[in-house]
Amino acid sequence: MRWLVRRFKTLIEWCWQRGVPRRAIDDIAIRRLIASEIDAVQRAVPAPLVSPYSSSLQEQADGDLDILVAWYRGVPIGIGFIGWRRLHAPQIAQRWRDIPEIYRLFVPLRYRSLGVGSRLMDEMESLAAARACEAIGLGVSHGNPRARMLYERRGYDADAVEFLNEYAVVDRQGRSQTIRDRSVYLVKRLRSGAAPLGKTSREETGQRRALESWCR
Ligand SMILES: CC(C)(COP(=O)(O)OP(=O)(O)OC[C@H]1O[C@@H](n2cnc3c(N)ncnc32)[C@H](O)[C@@H]1OP(=O)(O)O)[C@@H](O)C(=O)NCCC(=O)NCCS
Repeated sequence: MRWLVRRFKTLIEWCWQRGVPRRAIDDIAIRRLIASEIDAVQRAVPAPLVSPYSSSLQEQADGDLDILVAWYRGVPIGIGFIGWRRLHAPQIAQRWRDIPEIYRLFVPLRYRSLGVGSRLMDEMESLAAARACEAIGLGVSHGNPRARMLYERRGYDADAVEFLNEYAVVDRQGRSQTIRDRSVYLVKRLRSGAAPLGKTSREETGQRRALESWCR
C-alpha cells in the first residue's frame, strides 16, 4: 500500500514539474523575507495557519530567527527558516548544546530537484558560520527518507538522536490537531577542527546555555 502511495506521489510530482526546465537553476536570489513580500510568498509557499509569516517576521525582527526566501525571476520558489534560539526537545538538549536549527524548509513540487533547497541550506549554513557557530542542526521525520538523504549528503551527521516532533496544525475549518512525528535530529559541524560537541552534563540538562557561547 505504502509503495502504491509513493508511486502515486512520484506521478503527481512528475505532472507538476512538467513545464519547468529540469536542470539546476543558477540565477536564484536568496534574501530575508520582508513585510512587503509576504503576500507573494504566502501565495507561492503558504504558511500554516498556526504560524503565519507576519508573526514570524516579528521574531525575525527580534533576532530569534531568519526567514530566507529563494526567488527565481520574481517568483518565490522556496523558503527556509533558521532559528537562533530554538527550544530543543530534551533528548536533543541533553546531547547538544544550543545550536542554530534549520526548519520549515520547503520547495514547491514543481521546483524540486533543481538545487533550490541546497541553495537555501548553503545560505543558512553560511549565516551560522559567519556567527562562528560550531554546528547547525535539523530534525527530519522517519517518513521523509529523501530529505534525510539530502542532509546526509551535505554532511549532516547520521549519529542521530531520536525524538518525537510535536506540532499543531489547523485545517481550513479551524480545527486544531497535534501531529506527533517520529523524527531524528541531525547535526553538521561547521568549522574544520572545531572541538567535538560535548555531551551536556546532568546538571546542565534543562538549563539552556547562552547562545553566545556557541554563536557570536
Ligand atoms: C526537501 C526539499 C526542501 C529539498 O528541496 P529541493 O529543492 O528539491 O532540493 P535540491 O534540488 O537541492 O536537492 C534535491 C534532493 O533533495 C532530496 N529530496 C527530498 N525530498 C524530495 C522531494 N520530495 N522531491 C525531490 N527531491 C527531494 C533528494 O535527495 C533530491 O535528490 P535527487 O534530486 O537526486 O533525488 C524539498 O524536496 C521539499 O520541499 N520537500 C517537502 C518538504 C520537506 O520535506 N521539507 C523538509 C523537512 S525536514
